[in-house]
Amino acid sequence: MNEQWKQLYDQCCSCTACELHKTRTNCVFGVGNENAELLFVGEAPGENEDKTGTPFVGRAGKLLDQYLFAVDIPRESVYIANILKCRPPKNRDPLPSEEDACMDFLRRQVKLIKPKVIVCLGRISAMRLIRPDYKITKEHGEWVQKGDFLITAVYHPALLLRDPRRKEEMLEDMKKIKAKLDELNS
Ligand code: URA
Repeated sequence: MNEQWKQLYDQCCSCTACELHKTRTNCVFGVGNENAELLFVGEAPGENEDKTGTPFVGRAGKLLDQYLFAVDIPRESVYIANILKCRPPKNRDPLPSEEDACMDFLRRQVKLIKPKVIVCLGRISAMRLIRPDYKITKEHGEWVQKGDFLITAVYHPALLLRDPRRKEEMLEDMKKIKAKLDELNS
């Protein structure tokens, strides 16, 4: 971790801008390749992430790993972060005020990583990063150019655990993401 990353990490993990700092065990800053071409952005840490300080390590994370493996994207090659860095109690949806308080950390992560492609994991992330009225069931897998980035959204792996019928669509979206990366590098 270079000095800029370290500074960002320290600021993030000592943040007290919203109430969630009072109930966190660990801040969940993000993990992965700091020069990744592909950045995944989830919603907020869950119980396992709060315990370990690492995003997507619980059941949803294991499922995400399976999709990465299936389309031949090494987990070590990507960066994984969340909109919120602290766990909302009982995994409730993030409040808009919590997202506002936390977004600057993600913005700064994006500036340091400079990914080519951003993939929102689930609707909360897509509504924040793509459009407030984003409809994940209709629009997942579609590409949007936003500034320097290509951005898309896929179903949240936790949703796929509840509704496995959507797994085929998820695999197709993940294949499209892999193809897009290959195209950008060809
Ligand atoms: N769900 C998320 O959105 N993020 C995590 O880190 C874990 C579960």
